[in-house]
Amino acid sequence: NMIIFSFLCFRLLQFLALCFYTQHHVNEQCRLSDRMSRRLIRTYQLYSRTSGKHVQVLGNKKVNAMGDDGAVHAKLVVETDTFGSRIRIKGAKTGYYICMNKTGKLIGKRKGRGKDCIFTEIVLENNYTALQNAKYEGWYMAFTRKGRPRKASRTKQHQREAHFMKRQPKGHLLVNAPFLTIFLAGSLWGPKGSNVA
Ligand SMILES: *[C@@H]1O[C@H](CO)[C@@H](O)[C@H](O)[C@H]1NC(C)=O
Ligand SMILES: *[C@@H]1O[C@H](CO)[C@@H](O)[C@H](O)[C@H]1NC(C)=O
Repeated sequence: NMIIFSFLCFRLLQFLALCFYTQHHVNEQCRLSDRMSRRLIRTYQLYSRTSGKHVQVLGNKKVNAMGDDGAVHAKLVVETDTFGSRIRIKGAKTGYYICMNKTGKLIGKRKGRGKDCIFTEIVLENNYTALQNAKYEGWYMAFTRKGRPRKASRTKQHQREAHFMKRQPKGHLLVNAPFLTIFLAGSLWGPKGSNVA
C-alpha cells in the first residue's frame, strides 16, 4: 500500500510540475507576442515650416507651434503601429493627445483612441512631413507664421503651413532605424510601452 501511495504522490508531483511548466511556457509566449505587436514609440519635436518653432501641447489643452527648441511642452511622444504611417501624437509633459474636432480645430484630449486623434504621416518631395487627420481626410495639421493653429478645413497638403520636420532637441541625433526602435521599445519601456521618461 505504501508503495502505491508513494507512486501516486510521485505521479501527482509530476503532473503539477508539468502544469507549472506549461503555464510558465504559455505566459512566456504571450509576453513575447505582446512585445512583437507592440506599438512603436518615439519622442521628437515637430518643427513648423511657417512659424520656425515647435508644436507644443499645453496644460490647457491648447496646441500651438510656438515652442522653442528643447521646450518642455514641445517634447512629443509619437505612437506608430508597426510599419504603419498612422501616428498618434501626445505631449510628453501633459499627456494630452493632439486631436481634431469637427470644426477643424486642434485640441488636446486625454484619451486618443478615436480616429480624430490619428494622423497619417505623408513625407513630401521636399522632405517635409504633412499630417493628415484620419477622421477628417483632407484636413491637415497646420500653423500660421505666429504659430497659431490654422482651421484645418482650409488646409492643403502643399501649403507651407502644413509642413513639418521631425527634430530632436539640439545636440540629439534622430534615430531613424525601425529595428532599433523596436529593440529600444522592447527593452526600455514598460509593458504597455506608453510611459516614456
Ligand atoms: C472645437 O474646438 C474649439 C477649440 O477648442 C472649440 O472652441 C469648439 O467649440 C470646438 N467645436 C466643437 C464642435 O466641439
Ligand atoms: C530629401 O532627402 C534626401 C535624403 O536625405 C536627399 O537625397 C534629397 O536631396 C532631399 N530632397 C530635398 C528636396 O531636399
